[in-house]
Amino acid sequence: MLSRALVLRVAEWPPFKRWITRSPMTQGLVSRFIAGEKLEDAIQVTRQLNAQGFLVALDYLGESTTRPEEAENAAHQYITLLKRIAESGVNACISIKLTQLGLDLSYELCRQYLQSVLAAAQELRNFVWIDMESSRHTDRTLNLFCELYPLYPNSGTVLQSYLYRTPNDLERLLALGARIRLVKGAYAEPREVAYPDKRSVDRQFKVLMERLLECGNEPAIATHDVRLIEHAKQYAAKIGLRKEQFEFQLLYGISRELQKRLVAEGYRTLIYVPYGEQWYPYFSRRLAERPANLYFILRNLFRK
Ligand code: FDA
Repeated sequence: MLSRALVLRVAEWPPFKRWITRSPMTQGLVSRFIAGEKLEDAIQVTRQLNAQGFLVALDYLGESTTRPEEAENAAHQYITLLKRIAESGVNACISIKLTQLGLDLSYELCRQYLQSVLAAAQELRNFVWIDMESSRHTDRTLNLFCELYPLYPNSGTVLQSYLYRTPNDLERLLALGARIRLVKGAYAEPREVAYPDKRSVDRQFKVLMERLLECGNEPAIATHDVRLIEHAKQYAAKIGLRKEQFEFQLLYGISRELQKRLVAEGYRTLIYVPYGEQWYPYFSRRLAERPANLYFILRNLFRK
């Protein structure tokens, strides 16, 4: 079995990256996960998903910004997106990464840009999810989120069940009353900070999920893991949570039948829809989650 770290390393190998980004052969797989490169592609996909009963979170792709102008442009793009959502009448919130807003450049700069996006969302009565990135960013992401949440309660953030620290972070965010999205975690992490095996990650997800369903503010359970989703349904029913009091969240293009089934069963279901030109890092994490995706690509490469 290929490890996540190995797949992510292959994905960073320049000839592989070049081939993926240029070859028409890989575009089918790319477009399965990414709504398109333009804002209007994202609005169109949102409209289709809304018509099928889904809520949507739009992610304007980008991360690890190295220049202040890029961070400023990302904030500007998000504000434009929020206005376009309002004007088009689609039902979508947004999901952003703090390194896209300059977190690696300066905490202060990132706070300034984040605040401008949060203020625009507040004015337009929209909601902002703050994605969680690698463990190098966890403290700063949570600190910035906790600092701004009292001013902008129209925001929520993400916790990853693979990190040993997450039970403590969960209590911190529960005390704040913020919305929380629980995920397993998508980055290559050292075993000093994260469980290296799937079984432990899943076990911790289950424990955290129960606590989140019991005490969370509109908890968001973000996974495609059918066993965990079934457990969430049963546990929510057992503690008397109604279907509209919590939310399942899934990624665009993944487990599409499961997505439809959840809506048909009456569960509040949100699809996370990424778009934009900077799709490669997001796409490589989707490859790393499921080696079959990488095998599919390699098969096509050698069939050439
Ligand atoms: P698992 O990996 O066990 O997969 C369960 C099943 O889902 C698989 O058997 C397969 O059928 C299907 N599946 C999963 N991934 C697939 C793929 N790439 N291609 C095809 N099928 C696949 N992570 C993070 O670190 N920070 C974040 O902010 C977020 N945000 C986020 C939002 C939302 C809405 C979701 C659903 C996920 C995230 N993630 C994330 C990603 C998350 O951490 C995790 O990597 C993926 O959800 C895959 O893990 P599963 O929970 O689906 O379980």
